[in-house]
Amino acid sequence: MQIFLDTSDVDIIKHHYQTGLIDGITTNPTLMMQAGRNPVEVISEISSVFSGRGYHIGSISAEVVADSAEEMVLQAEQYYSIGDNITIKVPCSYEGLKACKELSDRNIKVNVTLIFSLSQSILAAKAGATYISPFVGRCEDNNINGIELISSIKKVFKLNSITTTSILAASIRSIDHINNSFKAGADIVTLPPKIFEEMYHHDLTDLGLAQFDKDWKKLNS
Ligand code: E4P
Repeated sequence: MQIFLDTSDVDIIKHHYQTGLIDGITTNPTLMMQAGRNPVEVISEISSVFSGRGYHIGSISAEVVADSAEEMVLQAEQYYSIGDNITIKVPCSYEGLKACKELSDRNIKVNVTLIFSLSQSILAAKAGATYISPFVGRCEDNNINGIELISSIKKVFKLNSITTTSILAASIRSIDHINNSFKAGADIVTLPPKIFEEMYHHDLTDLGLAQFDKDWKKLNS
């Protein structure tokens, strides 16, 4: 059961990495646009945050954007040469899966993104993907049950003994999405930092803590 953060903000990543609870990072072109910096530099910096802890190098997904598999593979090189913890993210398309096959044949980890159906997951697994990313939130936006999709993928992977492709639930918008994704069999969830922060909180924890603080002060006064 792993937690990734879905962000290109290096300071936020450093902050949450200190908790020891973060297993990896996913980025995408929109998140890179929001960061407003050179993507290769951003990925390099994220990679070194994780390399700081020898025993846990994590997985940092860097997305390639190109029209052909050849160009995707070329773009991928500038990322995977950064370090062992880089995963190349490709779209679930004809060209993307061709690139996935070529990269995974070279033992480079690939995350196939923008997954909305079981059939796409099957192709991605056959192309050697290390991760597949079903987009729970965007499924919901389009009246597709993203949680059922994760369940079906899990079931088919189990029936066919597919153990080398992990289900990475993405486009997560709520705590329910996290809980239900894991219940449905996701191996990993990738979370916007704001949703990760929400995971800590419960009103009863706050109330209980306030009471304990009050009583502790009374005892010591
Ligand atoms: C996954 O890897 C994507 O970066 C991300 O989860 C997309 O989420 P969104 O649908 O909220 O943009």
